[in-house]
Amino acid sequence: MVYRFKSDLKYSDVTPKSVWMNRRHLMACGAAAFSVAGVSGVGVAAVRNQRYSTDEELTSLDDILTYNNFYEFGNSKGDPSQHADALTTSPWDIKVDGLVNKPGTYSFDDIVRGVNMEERIYRLRCVEAWSMVIPWIGFQLSEFLTRVEPQSGARYVAFETLYRPEEMPAQRTRMLDWPYREGLRLDEAMHPLTILATGLYGESMPNQNGAPIRLVVPWKYGFKSIKSIVRISLVADIPETTWNMQAPREYGFYSNVNPNRSHPRWSQASERRVGGGIFAKRIPTRMFNGYESEVSGLYADMDLMANY
Ligand code: MTE
Repeated sequence: MVYRFKSDLKYSDVTPKSVWMNRRHLMACGAAAFSVAGVSGVGVAAVRNQRYSTDEELTSLDDILTYNNFYEFGNSKGDPSQHADALTTSPWDIKVDGLVNKPGTYSFDDIVRGVNMEERIYRLRCVEAWSMVIPWIGFQLSEFLTRVEPQSGARYVAFETLYRPEEMPAQRTRMLDWPYREGLRLDEAMHPLTILATGLYGESMPNQNGAPIRLVVPWKYGFKSIKSIVRISLVADIPETTWNMQAPREYGFYSNVNPNRSHPRWSQASERRVGGGIFAKRIPTRMFNGYESEVSGLYADMDLMANY
């Protein structure tokens, strides 16, 4: 699927030509691809949401595609781009269960039909202290949650990634307790910044970035933004999450970006923008990754040093 843009801004306006001309998985027609129906014949219109987009320089598509964390395919940054081609992403279903009035199995096509698809240029800050600026295509998770109707007892949302060791080689090992799991408080999940992303740089989500559908929560460390989601559960109690189970002292349930709270093994006060080269200056990390004015209200009564 290639996304059509209703606005007249093209990537050629914001991205160096050398980057978009080299897009390996793009049809051979360069920028024109943004205004035509996609390879699958399903053109989806996406409009840039300026209010929720940064104007910082985009990370190159090449870096976004080759510098990944997707442990199901291995634990070095280049593993996902090498191995994720094996992942079958169609057909794709998400099972919705727990405290909802409309549980069931929803197909990818059903989930995206009629949603308000937007482009959002967000900062992504990894807990490892590197960062990127990524033009996602997606829609607010709140749209989908509203559709499945959470019940009054639902306070958290739990997410699960696909478990398919035949296609995800590291799932044959015990590197993590598979499947990868994440969770949000329901009000965090309903926040307008929280999106389900189905693409980036104007195209369908590359496998290594979490095809066909992943979470993006820009004010939290990147590991909260779970990839290749197959299950969404509305639950009453705080759910188990992969990194929190693995090392609770290092990775809290909230994991909001916080430059004042060091990781036990390194500082979180600054970050390295991927693509800047080895001599590039580190940049200061901002509270809530720069989304403080939008999200600080969610944590008004909380001690953020204790609830990390
Ligand atoms: N989701 C799954 N299922 N498995 C993972 O290993 N890694 C997380 C997150 N989502 C991960 C995941 C981490 S640590 C980060 S920083 C981001 O994905 C990286 O997203 P990107 O590769 O698209 O930049």
